[in-house]
Amino acid sequence: MSPPLPRIPRHLAIIMDGNGRWAERRRRPRMIGHRAGARAVNLCIDFCLDRGVQVLTLFAFSSENWGRPAEEVSALMKLFMGALEREVDELHRRGVRVRFIGQREKFQPAIVQRMHAAEALTAGNARLTLVIAASYGGRQDLAQAARALAEEVAAGRLQPADIDEARLAAQVALADLPPPDLFIRTGGDHRISNFLLWQLAYTELWFTETLWPDLDATVLQAALDDFAVRERRFGLTAAQVATQGTCP
Ligand code: FPP
Repeated sequence: MSPPLPRIPRHLAIIMDGNGRWAERRRRPRMIGHRAGARAVNLCIDFCLDRGVQVLTLFAFSSENWGRPAEEVSALMKLFMGALEREVDELHRRGVRVRFIGQREKFQPAIVQRMHAAEALTAGNARLTLVIAASYGGRQDLAQAARALAEEVAAGRLQPADIDEARLAAQVALADLPPPDLFIRTGGDHRISNFLLWQLAYTELWFTETLWPDLDATVLQAALDDFAVRERRFGLTAAQVATQGTCP
């Protein structure tokens, strides 16, 4: 009998932290760290394609990151634009569906147009869904979900008493995808930092000191190995999980 297949997360969500420190340790401008970070993004996508991860969500730019020095924000915008110009055709060729979450209207029109084009080109792909969280904030996500439900109530299409977890879940980002099974944060901090607050409710959390630009397949594999031996109980007892199996 062949050994059981390792448990692979269907959905991996990552906070890519440590670009700035990676550059500062080399006495280079922070932007050099972000460029090295973009290379690590490609490595991570390759890894997910190879291991059969179905959804990869990357926190590329938070709602709070707009407050960084103007020159860093502007250089990051150039980096995103360049990546959209360079990488999307190759991602499409490899069967990757690209999606964006967050307040895209905050970006320059040229970037918004590239985002739409990338989503349209890759909409039919199913090998890996790559979600880029850009100008995203978990609290903002929840606030817009609450607003959408309030509008339904105001229009008479929904009763307040009918608002439950399922209705709220349907309004937050990534509602049509399985929630993240595994969350990774690089860079040594142990925080969620306003990432997918609703969606991470039962996600396994994994932290590493490795700075994002130093990411390699060994680090990612260590996270997957740890995930594979964790018991996910979703609020049930260990005995229940043993007899029923875990639920998503
Ligand atoms: C956090 O490191 C990283 C960011 C705010 C930007 C993330 C961007 C990339 C990884 C580059 C390319 C991404 C795509 C999707 C093309 P930090 O600057 O907070 O690092 P620090 O904590 O060491 O200062």
